[in-house]
Amino acid sequence: MKLTMEQAAGRVMVALDYPDAAAAERLITELQGIPCYIKVGMQLFYAAGPSFVQSLKERGYHVFLDVKMHDIPNTVKGGAGSVTKLGVDMFNVHAAGGSAMLEAALEGVDIAITGSGLRKPTVIAVTHLTSTSQTMLNEQIGISGTVEAAVIRYAELTKKAGLDGVVASPSEVEAIKAACGTSFKTITPGIRPAGSEVNDQSRIMTPSEALRQGTDYMVIGRPITAAPSPRSALESIIEELTSYE
Ligand code: C5P
Repeated sequence: MKLTMEQAAGRVMVALDYPDAAAAERLITELQGIPCYIKVGMQLFYAAGPSFVQSLKERGYHVFLDVKMHDIPNTVKGGAGSVTKLGVDMFNVHAAGGSAMLEAALEGVDIAITGSGLRKPTVIAVTHLTSTSQTMLNEQIGISGTVEAAVIRYAELTKKAGLDGVVASPSEVEAIKAACGTSFKTITPGIRPAGSEVNDQSRIMTPSEALRQGTDYMVIGRPITAAPSPRSALESIIEELTSYE
């Protein structure tokens, strides 16, 4: 199935990894009119706060708040409620918090939306960070087995708790969909258009390769933000996705 320009743009989450609102605003201005998803991570959120997120929502953007909550269930319930009230479209928690914490996040969402007219955000979990290596998993974190097996276990836990999907490496999408079903969402960083800098990512894929794996949303930062023309970089990613059959 071929994607329209709008569908392709909506599957690209531009990572606004900036230190303050002014820097992020410059990119938003540059990308104006392109209906991409916007990802606000901890660097920008800790600096620019809820008002910046609300201003993105007022301008009609879909916003993924990548704050990776991981705390006791009661605290995550409160945090989930607060970000839901900001009107974000998606936010995430760590699967390592366990099922009580994952369920508490959903409870916080439900409490916040009840009677508010707000829409339920998509709630996803981080399985293992894409920076987690096999040695780190086994020797530092103390989990035996392969990274992929550990990722699948967390994805299954996430699905059982009732969440909508997970953040994962594009190379894990196929196995996650096989274990959790095709409607279970996958959000994948580690995307690099052909010929672009790899930076600190490993196990990268091009946008069209990630699409072929079945990824639902691709998080792309530096290939867009550090490009000489971020607008042209995003447009050519969208073109790559729309020309993929
Ligand atoms: O610049 P780049 O395309 O590598 O940006 C990837 C984005 O995805 C960053 O905002 C990073 O925090 C985020 N991310 C990641 N790996 C994860 C989870 C999130 O790279 N496992």
